[in-house]
Amino acid sequence: MTVTKSASRGRRASLAVICVVAATACGGRGSPTAATPLPPSPPTTDTLRAAAQATGRRIGAAVQSRLLNEARYGGTVAREFNYLTAEYEMKWGAIEATRGASDFGPGDNIVSFARSYGMDVKGHALLWHQSVPAWVGGLSPSDLRAAVAAHIREVAGHYRGRVHAWDVVNEAVSDDGLGLRDTVFRQKLGDGYIAEAFRLAREADPGALLFYNDYGGEGSGAKSNRVYDLLRSLIADGVPIDGVGLQMHVSANGRPSDGSIASNMQRLASLGLIVHISEMDVKVNGVGGSIDQKLDAQKAAYKSIVAVCLAQPRCEAVTFWGVSDAHTWIAGDTPLLFDAQYAAKPAHAGVLDALRGR
Ligand code: G3I
Repeated sequence: MTVTKSASRGRRASLAVICVVAATACGGRGSPTAATPLPPSPPTTDTLRAAAQATGRRIGAAVQSRLLNEARYGGTVAREFNYLTAEYEMKWGAIEATRGASDFGPGDNIVSFARSYGMDVKGHALLWHQSVPAWVGGLSPSDLRAAVAAHIREVAGHYRGRVHAWDVVNEAVSDDGLGLRDTVFRQKLGDGYIAEAFRLAREADPGALLFYNDYGGEGSGAKSNRVYDLLRSLIADGVPIDGVGLQMHVSANGRPSDGSIASNMQRLASLGLIVHISEMDVKVNGVGGSIDQKLDAQKAAYKSIVAVCLAQPRCEAVTFWGVSDAHTWIAGDTPLLFDAQYAAKPAHAGVLDALRGR
C-alpha cells in the first residue's frame, strides 16, 4: 500500500461511514465512536444472510468500496450477505496502474467493511487477462515472469490472513473449450503460468483457499470438459488448488440445465475440490412477455440454480455479481436481486425459498 497520510485519514473516515451504514443496517442503534465499528447485529429473519446461515453456506455479493459511502448500498450488503468479493478493486490494473506504486486503499476498505459485519472476503483475481496494468503488455518474458511473481507475492501477502479465498487464475480456458486462452501470460510464460500462479499464492498466504474461476463451463460441453481436464491435471501434478468457481452469468431463458450443472458440480467435487457459484446474475431482456413474467422467470432461474448448489455438499458458497440493478456490468438489463432503489425483487424471494428448501 502506498502509505500516505490521506490513506490513514481515509481509513478513519471509512470507519465512521461504516458506523453510519451500520446504523442503517441495524435500525439506528445510536452512534458508536468512530474507532469501534458496531458489532454485527443478528440478521433479521427474512434476509439471505439469515437463511444461508442456517444452511452453513456462504452467501455473497461482488462489491465496490463506494459501499462505505452509500448508506442504502452498504446497509443492504450488511443485512443480506456474509461473503464479499471485490468486483474490481483487487485486480492488478486497479492496484498497480503505475509499476511499483500499489494502492491497496479501496481493497482495504472492502476488507474492513466486511470485518465490521463478521463477513469473509474472496480476493478477485490475482491473474486475469483483463484489467491488467498497461505497463505489463510490453514486458519481456523474463520481466513478465518476475512481475507476475512480485504481484502475487505483494497482493496475496498484503491480504495474508485477511481473506478467506483467492481467485488465483481467472478465465484461462478458451471459449471454444479446445485449449487454453491465448493470453499475454500464456504467450510469454507458456502453459505453466497457471500452476506457477497457484504455487506463488500458496506461499504468500498459506491460509487462503485457492480457486480457479471461469465462465461458460457451468453445465456440460466442450469448455466444461476442458476446465475439468485442466483442474484434474493441476491436481495430478500436485499444484496447490482448493476450489473452482463457476461464474454463472446466465439468462432466465438461456442457461445450462439444472441436471447438467449438478453433474458438473459432482465431477468437480469428486476431484476433491470445493465448488462455488462465484458471479451469478440472471439476465431477463431475452424473456418475452410482461415485466412480471420476466421477473418470475428470473426468480425461477435463481431459485433452481441455488437449489442445485445446496444439493451438492461441496458447493459451499453462492455469490451474486453485484447487489442492485443500479450498478451492474450488464448494461441495459436488470440481472440482480435488488432493483435500482435497493428494493428486493421476486428473485430475492426465489433465493430465500431455495435456501429454505421450499
Ligand atoms: O473506478 C473507475 C472510475 O474511477 C473511472 O471513473 C471509471 C471510468 O473509466 O472506471 C472505473 O473503473 C471501472 C471499474 O469496472 C469500476 O466500475 C473500469 O473502467 C471497468 O473496466 C471495470 O469493469 C469491471 C470488469 O470486470 C473489468 O474489470 C466490472 O465492474 C466487473 O463487473 C467485471 O467483472 C468480471 C469479472 O471480474 C470476471 N468475470 C466476468 C465479469 C464481468 O465482465
